[in-house]
Amino acid sequence: MNYALSLRQEVMRTIEESMDQLSNKYLRPIEESWQPADFLPDSQNESFFEEVKDLQELARGMSYDLLTVLIGDTITEEALPNYEAWLMSIDGIDRTSETGWGKWIRSWTAEENRHGDLLNRYLYLSGRVDMRQLEISTQYLISDGFDTQAGTDPYNSFVFTSFQELATNISHRRVASEVKKLGDERLGRICGVIAADETRHANAYKTFVSLILEMDPSGLILAFEEMMKKKIVMPAHKLRGTDEAIGNLFKEFSFAAQRTSVYTTQDYIEILQSLLSEWDIGHLNELTDEAEKARDYLMALPNRLERISSRMKIPQGQYSFKWITR
Ligand SMILES: [Fe+2]
Ligand SMILES: [Fe+2]
Repeated sequence: MNYALSLRQEVMRTIEESMDQLSNKYLRPIEESWQPADFLPDSQNESFFEEVKDLQELARGMSYDLLTVLIGDTITEEALPNYEAWLMSIDGIDRTSETGWGKWIRSWTAEENRHGDLLNRYLYLSGRVDMRQLEISTQYLISDGFDTQAGTDPYNSFVFTSFQELATNISHRRVASEVKKLGDERLGRICGVIAADETRHANAYKTFVSLILEMDPSGLILAFEEMMKKKIVMPAHKLRGTDEAIGNLFKEFSFAAQRTSVYTTQDYIEILQSLLSEWDIGHLNELTDEAEKARDYLMALPNRLERISSRMKIPQGQYSFKWITR
């Protein structure tokens, strides 16, 4: 085994020793967790149809782009089997373990699973979505797979998850505030509670990276550089619909996210900036020469991305999604 790999495994084992405390801090006990049923009309109630009618009336207020983003976010959440499978494959994580990392990934998955359930059920009730088309896209996205470009490396992977949990937080939080402006308190709460979970999860993964930094700063910085050079892909980058090529819908989905300001290239840059400052990358020293270069590259990256993003144009023309019927 090479040195870098054995050091990584040692680092993973060390973090695993504190996994009970970390789980207590960043995950919620199941009995105290919200469940999708808490936010949706209860079909056992006589008032069910009345409540669904109100829900549908409010759902009509969403613009085409905003609804597109909500559907894309839902499908992204629904492709959870891919994320769990990938996380379980990370070096240093034992899928069969009842404790430690294995337990962390299962418990994280169990929390995330509520997101897709809740959004899917909401969209079903909304009366605006061709559920069959949404389901086809979901089945494709899971079947097409998901390449984080992190491989099975734990450092790369936790840089990726830190970034992604922050991105999903932004997206759900912005949808929440947009629909609240439209007077849709229920959908606002739905997206709000999901966003809050994403923040907790982001804090967990950022903490894992901080712990890695204490033990192997040079290794982590090189991983961070590698991930940023490859660019952090969105989990839905292979999104497509019926009779379409892999990834065909992703561009249109992200244009809608940009037009509604739910998730923009500026957010990507700001997430990077927040990670650089949270992990205090600029002040890390006692690095290898290679890691020092990587640190300088990372610290200069936000400005470089700003220059590129200022030249990018977002198409205004609307794409016609099969998911949306009205
Ligand atoms: Fe989620
Ligand atoms: Fe998440």
